[in-house]
Amino acid sequence: MIEQNSGIFNLSTQSTTYLFGVNKSGHLEHLYYGEHLCSTSISLDALSPILTNPLGIGIAYSETDPSMLEIVKQEISTPGKGDYRESAIELSYNDGMDTLDFIYSSHQILKGKSSIFTGLPQSYGDNTICDTLRITLKEKELKLRLILTYTTFNDCDVITRKATLYNDSPAEITIQNLASLQLDLDDSDWDLTTFDGAWARERHINRRPLTTGILINDSKSGVSSADHNPCIFLSRKDCNELHGECLATNLIYSGNHREAVEVSPYGQTRVLTGINSAGFRWKLAQDESFTTPEAILTYSNAGFSDLSKNLHYFANNHIVRGYWKNKQRPILINNWEATYFNFTESKLITLAKRAKEVGIELFVLDDGWFGDRQDDTSSLGDWSVNTKKLTSGMGAFAQKLHEMNLLFGLWVEPEMISRNSNLFDKHPDWAVIIPGRAPSVGRNQFILDLTKEEVREYLYTALSQIFTLGKVDYIKWDMNRTFSDIYSNNKAIRNMGEFNHRYILGLYALLNRLIKTFPKILFESCASGGNRFDLGMLSFMPQNWVSDDTDAYERLAIQEGTACGYPLSAMGCHVSAIPNHQTLRKSDLETRFNVAAFGNLGYELDMTKLSDFERDIIKDQIAFYKMYRNIFQYGTFVKLPSESNTTRWAVMDPQKANILILDYKRRLKPNPGLEILKVPITNISYTYEVYPRQQKLSIKDFGSLAENFIASSTGIENKKLEKVMKKMLHINTETVHYEVTGEYLAKCGIHLPQTFGGTGYDPHLTRVMPDGGSRIYLITRKK
Ligand code: GLA
Repeated sequence: MIEQNSGIFNLSTQSTTYLFGVNKSGHLEHLYYGEHLCSTSISLDALSPILTNPLGIGIAYSETDPSMLEIVKQEISTPGKGDYRESAIELSYNDGMDTLDFIYSSHQILKGKSSIFTGLPQSYGDNTICDTLRITLKEKELKLRLILTYTTFNDCDVITRKATLYNDSPAEITIQNLASLQLDLDDSDWDLTTFDGAWARERHINRRPLTTGILINDSKSGVSSADHNPCIFLSRKDCNELHGECLATNLIYSGNHREAVEVSPYGQTRVLTGINSAGFRWKLAQDESFTTPEAILTYSNAGFSDLSKNLHYFANNHIVRGYWKNKQRPILINNWEATYFNFTESKLITLAKRAKEVGIELFVLDDGWFGDRQDDTSSLGDWSVNTKKLTSGMGAFAQKLHEMNLLFGLWVEPEMISRNSNLFDKHPDWAVIIPGRAPSVGRNQFILDLTKEEVREYLYTALSQIFTLGKVDYIKWDMNRTFSDIYSNNKAIRNMGEFNHRYILGLYALLNRLIKTFPKILFESCASGGNRFDLGMLSFMPQNWVSDDTDAYERLAIQEGTACGYPLSAMGCHVSAIPNHQTLRKSDLETRFNVAAFGNLGYELDMTKLSDFERDIIKDQIAFYKMYRNIFQYGTFVKLPSESNTTRWAVMDPQKANILILDYKRRLKPNPGLEILKVPITNISYTYEVYPRQQKLSIKDFGSLAENFIASSTGIENKKLEKVMKKMLHINTETVHYEVTGEYLAKCGIHLPQTFGGTGYDPHLTRVMPDGGSRIYLITRKK
């Protein structure tokens, strides 16, 4: 709901209120953001600072108005009028002047939200959920108009905002910075959490207290980046997963971004998010306009998991669109780590058969199927099938898979060009390289200049042909290097400071066209793993490869951080071989599954080399995942409190009828004493049954103890044991079962059985939990 009363704008969602007003000087003064307010009569005077004289060295707004913009909370801050904090808008006019002053002019309140694609992806929602406010501001002396557009999403407590600047004057101006969102807060008693990392360790949670000064979370590499995701959280000191006040911002954008969090000398906090001003210069001639990406804002007073719930709901319902929206995602096998570049058609078909046997639904052919690509030094750009590898051709190969009743998926990396390619020979100026300067290079490849219409046309045609030929059901859209040597000979570019943004606009235009032509293809975005995991890509591609790092232990931090801002349905998570190809660490197959199940499950190992034991395990895993797929992909995710050696995640359906808990032990602790599983999220008025998912243990894991345990647990005499052992490959994990009330589970917890400690083994009760051991507990509400 959006209302305007006596100059105060009230933007309310179910549980939050956002207030700002037009103050005496005509500025948009921010008043409040937080828990929902029921009062409708709100006075601007009571919520804004009252100054009779400027403070010390402070600058009064004018000779007749003593208010200091430096302490006024604003919706859009500008330079040159005494507010020395970070500005939301910076531009130069008249040969380098930069003073700006935007004053309220008019507004419109509209039902719903326009969802027309105008170059940048936007969130969407219908009239029953969304209201939109468009406020027009005018620069006091220049003929510039600024429109701030706010939309409320009542169903998930999200507010979005973007800004559009119009140049109504004959003089050209250059925009250096235009933030999508500004949020000014009264105090600085907040912690900032960012999601930081690098390749193979993306989006680790990084929380620290705010202190006077500016903290910048940004990307300058051309992509939203694994280094610093555009999503950030602010939270009160006492905020945890289940309690406390917190808020989040994010950006619907895939390129360079910048989030500035500034604590002013007066102890107020300013948050800004938008396109990164570093390297950004955008010329605006008469009658031209520039629109920022849309930013999102959400608030909760019930802890991080509730905040994430808002973000997940928003992404699933107002970002992801089209055929795959809220649809269950297929379980896939990807041949990359099984074969790398070294495959033949018959090897792939055997792999597909083995995958089908265990219940897999989608076969993904990764890198190496096109041009003359034997390694990563060639052929990007040559999107024609390599018939030496796929001897029957793309169409016939795909048909074989479809006849097996498997979906067919294909890897592409369209935004790139190898120097060693036919495309480079033909169009060297399509590569982003500065003429006359030795270019830097990433993974032996260059970026294609997607600002050019002819490049996008080429890609659209080449990709459409291949997608059609293979009747492709799924595309993994990869992007494996960041930007350097920015230059384009595209005549439409007036200034190289436009390049990065124009590139992203080019990418979005291409994706928009392809997705319209192939609405049923399931696209998964990838950028050397999770180097471009953002709401911009999710607007076109419903899922994203989380990380190249599939080590179960590493994935705990990566998935946990990713799930703070993005739903599990967006997260590609695979079970891979051991030793793990990124870390050489070994985790057992059940644990690899238990972690990968919290997202879109896939396998990325050579299934032709599985032992019978492993095949049986995988079959059971897939059957289990299929039973609870909707919860694993669309359930509410909560990180449960646990001691530092343990990770506990929960995912559940909205009614809390089925709750799945991951219980992961980093290091085995001998003779650990009591261990309690507390689930403070159950519905306390119901009774629940609790079971661990049945996992398999290899007899070999017991080493020379195996004979003793089997003898004692089965009663078989020593003489016959050797024979029995040969047949007996595995045993099942404990079969413990509890029936308890939700209240008991939430408040007291259940005692888990003793872990294996060298003093004996009860096949029904003893929990074998080695380093990196884990279980999934299934908690089901009784009818
Ligand atoms: C990137 C991806 C991998 C794989 C390779 C293929 O590294 O992240 O998953 O597709 O490219 O070259």
